[in-house]
Amino acid sequence: MPRTIIVSNRLPTKVQRTDDGLTFQPSEGGLATGLGSIYRQDGNVWVGWPGLFLEDATEEQYITEALGADSMAPVFLTEAEIQDYYEGFSNSTLWPTFHYFPQFATYEPAHWAAYVAVNEKFCQAVLAQAGPGDTIWVHDYQLLLLPAMLRAARPEATIGFFLHIPFPSYELLRVLPWRTELLQGLLGADLIGFHTFGYMRHFLSAVTHLLGHATTNGLIETPTRTVLVDAFPMGIDYERFVEAAAADEAVEHEEVYRQALGTSRVVLSIDRLDYTKGIAQRLLAFELLLLRYPEWVSQVSLIMVVVPSRDQVPQYAALKQEIDELVGRINSQYRTIGWNPIHYFYRSFPLEELASLYRLAEVALVTPMRDGMNLVAKEYVASKADGRGVLILSERAGAARELSDALLINPTDLVGHAEALHQALVMPAEEQAQRLEAMRALVKRYNVFSWTRLFMDQLTYSKIKQHTLATD
Ligand code: G6P
Repeated sequence: MPRTIIVSNRLPTKVQRTDDGLTFQPSEGGLATGLGSIYRQDGNVWVGWPGLFLEDATEEQYITEALGADSMAPVFLTEAEIQDYYEGFSNSTLWPTFHYFPQFATYEPAHWAAYVAVNEKFCQAVLAQAGPGDTIWVHDYQLLLLPAMLRAARPEATIGFFLHIPFPSYELLRVLPWRTELLQGLLGADLIGFHTFGYMRHFLSAVTHLLGHATTNGLIETPTRTVLVDAFPMGIDYERFVEAAAADEAVEHEEVYRQALGTSRVVLSIDRLDYTKGIAQRLLAFELLLLRYPEWVSQVSLIMVVVPSRDQVPQYAALKQEIDELVGRINSQYRTIGWNPIHYFYRSFPLEELASLYRLAEVALVTPMRDGMNLVAKEYVASKADGRGVLILSERAGAARELSDALLINPTDLVGHAEALHQALVMPAEEQAQRLEAMRALVKRYNVFSWTRLFMDQLTYSKIKQHTLATD
C-alpha cells in the first residue's frame, strides 16, 4: 500500500542527552505539534533531525531503532551543519527575510553551500525510505531545495510541499542572492501549499517576475511541467485540546494556579522565543494598560510563557536579554507584596499544564509581528468550552484570516493594543460567548485532519491534471 513520507527539518520527537541517559520528548513549534497527530497512520514515516549530535555509532543505532519503532527515520546532522545550514541560512537568512525582518538577515555564501549540502543529505535519506508509489510531503523553509532534488532523482514521484511560514512580497524575496535557485527548488513539487491566499499570491508574483513562467489560476507552466499552487490554512487536533482542557488533571492544576493568584484576572501569552512573535511589544502594551487604566493595577496579571528556541542565533540571545530586562523593569515598578504584574516562565510546558493555563486565562494575547499561521490562537479557542475568554490576535498572523471574531490588532500600534486589552477585560459574557462560538465552530471543522485530507486530495488532483495536460 502506498505510504506518505513526511519530511521536515525537525522530527516531532526531540532526543536529548541527560545525566540519566537519552530522553525522547515532543518537539516545540507549530509544525511538530500540528502534524504530530497524524504521521503514525497507514505505515507512514517521518524523516527529520532528532535534535542532538551523535557521540558514536552505538548511539546512532540505538536512536535509529527507537525512533524507527515509532515511524520516524532520523537524519543526523553535524555541529558544523547545524551552524551553517540551520542557525545560518535557515534561521539567519530565510527566517528573517520571510518574516519581514530583512535588517536581521545575513548573506553568507558558506551558509548557502551548507544549505545545499544538507538538502542533498535529506534527499538521500528520503530516497532510502520512499518506494516508487509513495507520496513525499516536504515541509517548510529549511528544505526549499528538496523538491527539485527529489524530482531529479525520481521524475515520476508524487511530491507535495507546504510552507509553514509567510511567503514574503516579491520586493523582500528579490533581496536574496539565491532567490532563483530557491524558487526553482520549490518548483520540483507537484503541489505547493501556503497558509493563506496572500502568501500564495506573493509566491506566484515572484515566479512570474524572477523566472518568467506563465501562471493562471494557481497553475504554473514551467518549460517541462505544470505545478499547482494553493492555500491550505492549517488546523489543530481540536478534540485533543478539548479533551486536555476537560481532563481532571487540568481542572486540578487550574485550581492550584487560582489559589496562588488570588483574585487577580489572568491574561496569557505563550510563544517560542522569537523576534517575530512581538513579545517585547506585548510587554510594553501591558505596561501601557496599567498606565492608562490604573484601576487594573493589582487586579490583572500577565502569565507569559516563553519557550526557549534557537538560542545560538545572536538575535535570539539579544531578545532574551531584552525580555528579561523589560519584565524586571515592569515588575519592579508595579508589583506589590501580594501581586505580581507579570509571571514570566522561560521554559516549555507539557500539554496538561498548557491546558490548565488555557482554562485559567480570561484573555489570550497572540500578537506576532508576523506569523505564518499561529496555532496557539486555535488551541486557546478549542480549550474554551464554557464560552468564556477573549482572544486578542494580531492582524499579521495567518490565523487572523479565519479567526475574524477575535479582537484584531496591529501589534506596532501600542495604544490600540492596550485598548484591546482593556476592551477584553470588560467584555460582557454574552459577547465573549458569541465570538468564541463562531471561532470554535471554525477551528473544529477546519482541523488538522481535514487540512491533511484537503492537501492530499489536491496533490492527487495535481497529478491527474498534469497527466491530462501532457496527453491533450
Ligand atoms: C516554526 C517553523 C518550524 C520549526 C519551529 C520550531 O514553527 O515553521 O519549521 O520547527 O518553528 O523551530 P526550530 O528551529 O526549533 O525547529
